[in-house]
Amino acid sequence: MTVYDVGGVLCARPFRLGRLGHIGISVDDLALTERFYREVLGFRVTDHLYEPGGSPSPLGTFLTYNSDHHAMVLADTAAAKARGFNAPGLTLNQISFQVSTLQEVVEAHEMFVADGLSIRAIGRDIPGSNWAVYVADPDGHPVELFYGMEQIGWDGRSKPSGFRRYRATEPPKLPRPAERDEIQDVINLGLSIADGHVWNDVGEATYDVGGVLLPRPFKVINSGPIGLFVQDLDASISFYLDRLGMAVTEEGTCLGERLVHLRSGTEHHTITLMPISLRAKLGLSDRSTLATYGMQVGSYRQLRDARRFLAEQGYSVLELPPEIHAGIDFAIHVVDPEGHCVQLYYELEQVGSSGRPLSPRERRVVPDVWPEQLDPPTATSPNRTFQGPLG
Ligand SMILES: [Fe+2]
Repeated sequence: MTVYDVGGVLCARPFRLGRLGHIGISVDDLALTERFYREVLGFRVTDHLYEPGGSPSPLGTFLTYNSDHHAMVLADTAAAKARGFNAPGLTLNQISFQVSTLQEVVEAHEMFVADGLSIRAIGRDIPGSNWAVYVADPDGHPVELFYGMEQIGWDGRSKPSGFRRYRATEPPKLPRPAERDEIQDVINLGLSIADGHVWNDVGEATYDVGGVLLPRPFKVINSGPIGLFVQDLDASISFYLDRLGMAVTEEGTCLGERLVHLRSGTEHHTITLMPISLRAKLGLSDRSTLATYGMQVGSYRQLRDARRFLAEQGYSVLELPPEIHAGIDFAIHVVDPEGHCVQLYYELEQVGSSGRPLSPRERRVVPDVWPEQLDPPTATSPNRTFQGPLG
């Protein structure tokens, strides 16, 4: 078996998966879907993607909830298909994990090619400036390994287009200059760093969210896990375990179907794989194989308030069996305008380095009527990485 040196540690693959940084979905009505994620869930638009010299209507929207240039990409369905990012029956156009170095991206690409896997893209994307390789899973979902996402700072400003001259569609020759040197080169040409897109929150800031006034009574602070409907459960498990190095945390059944929760780090799960036959039983849209798109809000109180807020906005909250989100106690589900099921929760079980999930007895029981307050937690809280002010 080949062994790879990843930053001085011998590993079975030339990379180690980090966090699930973003996902991308293809949609028929870009403006309508953008409004949902922006106005209802509070994502910020950091950029639009336009066809050079083409239509004034955007082909894509980049959104975020943190300082990453994008935590979510909405792509026009026709444009995504033209780029080979959507197989028939799929709306997911990327499931994107961060790795620590550019070298990991390059060597992952080499390994995927050597293993005969289907590569969807290699190089560097703009906007976002991240180097990445995209490999298809058994159903054709593009799985991205990316390095070095553009960060949006306190002024909310993305890189101006003049600074995006480093697009690449080939693996880079290593080592590369640091990004700071690229930026300085463009500044030296006389371009201003002040011309980038600036995000703006929408709505009147009337809700007190932990002492800060925001336009909605909650703040998304983390994204993922996701649920995926797949054609061949065992083939998908094998891909995510053997090719990407994930681990099984827990298996279960839901409405008579087997499902498997996989993790890439210390959270209970990063991806839940479910057979496609479960989709109709759950009453979810047949347009997408994205079963659920998880988003963590800042607290249990925010989650309760989100449920009321969504109802006030005219959205109905779906009742879904808790088996699909083992490791998450309180959760609500709401469907976006194109049929994708968003899962809001406030806490995801941590399995630590042992990988052992809590037993059913150790888990919190979720009553039909959510209490005003919860009993003290039985386990330690996860370390949260959200940085910066909420709004
Ligand atoms: Fe991406």
